[in-house]
Amino acid sequence: MEAPRDLTECEAWRKLTALPPVPALRALFEHDPDRSRRYVFAAGDLRVDLSKHLVDDQVWAVLVDLARQIGLEERRDRQLGGAIVNHTEGRAVAHTALRMPITSSLVIDGVDVIPQVHEVLDRMAEAARRVRDGDWRGRSGQRIRTVVNLGIGGSDLGPLMAYEALRPFVLPGLECRFVSNVDGADLAEALRGLDPAETLVVVSSKTFTTVETMTNARSARAWLIDTVGVDALGDHLVAVTTNTAAAVEFGVRADAVFGFWDWVGGRFSLDSAIGLTLMIAIGPESFSELLAGMHLMDTHFATAPLAQNVPVLMGLLGMWYADVLGAHSRAVVPYAHDLRRFPAFLQQLEMESNGKSVRLDGSPVSVPTSPIVWGEPGINGQHAFFQLLHQGTRLVPVDFIGFARSHHVISHGVDLEGHHDLLLANLLAQSAALAFGRTADEVAALGVGPDLVPHRTFPGNRPSTVILADDLNPSTLGQLVALYEHIVSVQGIVWGINSFDQWGVELGKELASSIMPALVDGIGLDALDPSTQQSIAWIQRTR
Ligand code: F6P
Repeated sequence: MEAPRDLTECEAWRKLTALPPVPALRALFEHDPDRSRRYVFAAGDLRVDLSKHLVDDQVWAVLVDLARQIGLEERRDRQLGGAIVNHTEGRAVAHTALRMPITSSLVIDGVDVIPQVHEVLDRMAEAARRVRDGDWRGRSGQRIRTVVNLGIGGSDLGPLMAYEALRPFVLPGLECRFVSNVDGADLAEALRGLDPAETLVVVSSKTFTTVETMTNARSARAWLIDTVGVDALGDHLVAVTTNTAAAVEFGVRADAVFGFWDWVGGRFSLDSAIGLTLMIAIGPESFSELLAGMHLMDTHFATAPLAQNVPVLMGLLGMWYADVLGAHSRAVVPYAHDLRRFPAFLQQLEMESNGKSVRLDGSPVSVPTSPIVWGEPGINGQHAFFQLLHQGTRLVPVDFIGFARSHHVISHGVDLEGHHDLLLANLLAQSAALAFGRTADEVAALGVGPDLVPHRTFPGNRPSTVILADDLNPSTLGQLVALYEHIVSVQGIVWGINSFDQWGVELGKELASSIMPALVDGIGLDALDPSTQQSIAWIQRTR
């Protein structure tokens, strides 16, 4: 497979790395206050403030040139057009098709996939309505009150994140629980207090072979059968998978299998049938709004000029920090409790996609690729790791995410209005404190003694993005998710890597399957490495 031009061979890269150091953010804003308007972009309904980045006009211009020289637009269009861009798996990468309107068309391998996409969406909507309206009855005639989603990685993180994010939109009286860990503690906790007769178990697995999910699925099936009996299993079990045959063999009724396609990567599958549990929770209309929000961002990505294209600019910024300024990580800090699983979702999206060391042609990459992505909800993070962000020795760009309005203004009869202002004030304060800091002179002028001045000085010049939207609703959530999906594509193109495979997870899975018999029965113990043998011996002695 031919790799795009290596970025270090581009004229723009030579220019970028030869430019004089960018003035500090204080100086940049002093000389050019208008950057607080010029570098704020609209992407759909999101307001994305990129003004507090360690980038001046010249760097911005060269970054955009670099994108052009690499052929970013052409590669983006090939992906969006349904070409086989995941060449190690011989697949198209067409998650954007999942949110295209019924009137559009996208041909993959000679077939227009949009009618299939909408056929599945319609079936999902029908099932979701039946559960929500109480028409979907268990064998004993009771309505479904709880949906238990079994899945891991992309078959868990997206739906769980979105379920938490959209809690105010969830049908009252309906609860969804998510089980991902093969540790029995997870399933045991999720099933606690549930009546199988009122429970729907959704087995979400693209492959229907993932050992963690299948282990949980077998245990959940046994739990169901124990109460509702084997004949009623079909009323309580649903599968979401590309492997219909395996799901049917597992005991799921063929009409309760919801399919998707190999051109939807696991970490890009929230908007496929993998979103079934979410759709049941928030309803087909809200799910459609989520899809529409994603499509809005897709359109922005596909059509906005590079210098105004937010996923492109954010992708280039990530490269600038990782490859030129040497940042190893990026923090994602949503100032919205409901977005608390967003950093975990992004960890898979970005690190499974772009944590790669070889280019498309198999040659080693010439620059570092994905940073480590991490984060926690805003205010909580301030009281934990923000010390390092403000005064530590490492450069950690931060993505702040916030919303002008909250859905939680009144709860249990208590007025919560002031909470949200406090939240927003802190978001803005943190971004400003990181950028502009507090000099030693300013600290001294506050009357701080000389011994303490160095401890209380804030170096500033620490970059952050501030993403704001009106409120956290299905559409703005969809826009956020699609924004980060496209950042992944941009960076994959810039680095010349395949963002859409994940061979790096395979070796550990393979070793686990040979360690399992050694752990349980001592079979094949001698073939294992000495360190693993000693650990197994200790475990066996101990239990
Ligand atoms: O092991 C990694 C992975 O393949 C992810 O890419 C995927 O999202 C997850 O496992 C779950 O896979 P599946 O949906 O096939 O169970």
